Amino acid sequence: MIQQRILITGGTGFIGQALINRWLAQSAAVTVLSRRPAWVQRRWGGVVKAVSGLEQLSGEFDVLVNLAGEGIADKRWSRARKQALRDSRIALTRDLAAWASRSGQRFRVVLSGSAIGYYGGYSGGEDTPHSEQEAPGSDFAAQLCVDWEAAAEPLRPLAERFLILRTGVVLGVHGGMLKRLWLPFSLGLGGVIGNGQQNLSWIHLQDYCRAVDFLLSNSADKTLSGVVNMTAPVPVTNGGFTQTLARQLQRPALFPMPEYVAKLLFGEMSELLLKGQDVRPQRLRELGFNYDFADIDTALKDIVRHW
Ligand SMILES: NC(=O)c1ccc[n+]([C@@H]2O[C@H](COP(=O)([O-])OP(=O)(O)OC[C@H]3O[C@@H](n4cnc5c(N)ncnc54)[C@H](OP(=O)(O)O)[C@@H]3O)[C@@H](O)[C@H]2O)c1
Repeated sequence: MIQQRILITGGTGFIGQALINRWLAQSAAVTVLSRRPAWVQRRWGGVVKAVSGLEQLSGEFDVLVNLAGEGIADKRWSRARKQALRDSRIALTRDLAAWASRSGQRFRVVLSGSAIGYYGGYSGGEDTPHSEQEAPGSDFAAQLCVDWEAAAEPLRPLAERFLILRTGVVLGVHGGMLKRLWLPFSLGLGGVIGNGQQNLSWIHLQDYCRAVDFLLSNSADKTLSGVVNMTAPVPVTNGGFTQTLARQLQRPALFPMPEYVAKLLFGEMSELLLKGQDVRPQRLRELGFNYDFADIDTALKDIVRHW
């Protein structure tokens, strides 16, 4: 079997680490672009190559996976923070594309990151299902995704297949959104946010990684390019999610966060909590991707068991 040469940005993150672990098990040669190359060396015992700058890269790659970006929910969205969120995605993606073109890369597949925030934020009542063809929203997160996707466009002619991954809220052990919710919910201090009707379009980390492999592999349609919504088949409302998580943890969830408190605490970033979107993975369904965790109950049960 030919060894896949994979270059990933964002490889040290919650999703990236899980992907790398899978690829190593498949004997791929993985290179990570990271601001923390020494951490990468320690994490994978030198098996994964790490570079801190594009100029340190040499040779050709079969696959490029571009996921780097400052955490969207890590800090309040000050003007400087918004710029950092944009630069860490848009500027980095532009640099990546310029390097790929300069160094004559011809990738088999490019997967470049985006998020379901592309479709805009909706409170539950005004939401309708969004498949990949839907137009973008107009809030900050939507514009960030639109520009992130546009920055990746110059990679399209450098790849046999070029895909944009509009990622939903990834649920997994010890990371992502659940890492923030774990302590309050474990202490019985969780609760519904706002009116609880806003949609959460989620995906289990295991299914996310399986879907990435599915898109990379030849079992998927070889001509497959374009946008893929990376979500479970059906979203859950914030209220439904809160109930399910509390039930799986066998704790009450009696501490709602009213809209005004969320706005006071998080400023404009509260949109991420108070709004959501009903995103449907039409492409993955058409391609026949089978989910291990298609419903929130099974997904959270599995995560609670492995936490
Ligand atoms: N997790 C989710 O639920 C979710 C949902 C939708 C979209 N996404 C997107 O998917 C991507 C991966 O998500 P994740 O949860 O794995 O993220 P994460 O755990 O926060 O990891 C982010 C990664 O981006 C890199 N990074 C952060 N700031 C950077 C900067 N200023 N310059 C260069 N690189 C930077 C980091 O690499 P180094 O520290 O090694 O440089 C890190 O590996 C992100 O772009 C995220 O927005 C995630």
